[in-house]
Amino acid sequence: MGASLFSLLFFCITLSRVEAFEANRPPAKCSDGAVDIRFPFRVKSQQPQHCGRHGFELDCRKNTTMIHFPSYGDLVVTSISYDTKRVSLLDPRNCVHEVFLNLNLSLTPFNNYFVLKNYTYLNCSSTLSSHSSEIPCLSGEGNHVYTVEPSSPFPDSCTPIKTVSIPFPYSPYLSDNTFGLQLTWDFPECNDCEGGGGQCIFQGEKPWCFYKSQKKSHAITEGIHKLLYNLLHMFLSLMQQN
Ligand SMILES: *[C@@H]1O[C@H](CO)[C@@H](O)[C@H](O)[C@H]1NC(C)=O
Ligand SMILES: *[C@@H]1O[C@H](CO)[C@@H](O)[C@H](O)[C@H]1NC(C)=O
Ligand SMILES: *[C@@H]1O[C@H](CO)[C@@H](O)[C@H](O)[C@H]1NC(C)=O
Ligand SMILES: *[C@@H]1O[C@H](CO)[C@@H](O)[C@H](O)[C@H]1NC(C)=O
Repeated sequence: MGASLFSLLFFCITLSRVEAFEANRPPAKCSDGAVDIRFPFRVKSQQPQHCGRHGFELDCRKNTTMIHFPSYGDLVVTSISYDTKRVSLLDPRNCVHEVFLNLNLSLTPFNNYFVLKNYTYLNCSSTLSSHSSEIPCLSGEGNHVYTVEPSSPFPDSCTPIKTVSIPFPYSPYLSDNTFGLQLTWDFPECNDCEGGGGQCIFQGEKPWCFYKSQKKSHAITEGIHKLLYNLLHMFLSLMQQN
């Protein structure tokens, strides 16, 4: 029941239809109040492949928007800002440091939104005094995990786990797991479009720019004339049929 209701909202802009130019349609959502899903993202199980780009596939699970990273697993998508190209993620296991230790963005279309800084994760059998921040979600009975500056000396009771680049706003002294991970993406072809208030859409590998407010379409690449010509033909043949 819920599924059929929301499947009505699932659509994507497809250039094979006249309605393609009507850009004021509701975006896809995993539930009421969930994030708007539109290009370059798509809901893998509900929208055809051309609705999104590779690496931007999302899943709806229990009304929650999720993204899967092979190097880590699933993360919850809490917001997507299409104009600043920023996606906010939360770890469903509530341990963002576990994400930092394992998430590898190198084969994904994403980069960190914030500037990175290297930190070393230490696994210690006894508590470290002063200035060190223990990470509760990685620590357990008898072991204490800390982040320290890579150059910091550490006692014999500690073993380094890994040195990783983590987003700068994560102070190692701040163990707030509710502060999620912010990623960004970039299509250089779309910069002019999105910067000018348009919506960048790909047909195959060709970017197109749609202006929502003006309901005006503007092609970045050649081929627009052919497309408009075909649409005019479709329109005229529809008119003739009626
Ligand atoms: C999903 O949302 C619908 C409609 O808001 C609600 O009826 C349903 O209980 C929700 N399902 C879950 C698993 O939260
Ligand atoms: C991330 O993945 C790439 C490609 O698989 C690999 O070359 C690189 O070593 C990985 N980086 C880390 C820090 O594991
Ligand atoms: C982190 O350390 C690695 C290896 O020493 C280095 O290549 C990288 O540039 C450093 N990253 C930052 C953000 O300082
Ligand atoms: C830290 O060390 C303990 C004991 O050796 C081990 O059980 C635990 O998995 C380690 N934690 C991490 C995050 O590597």
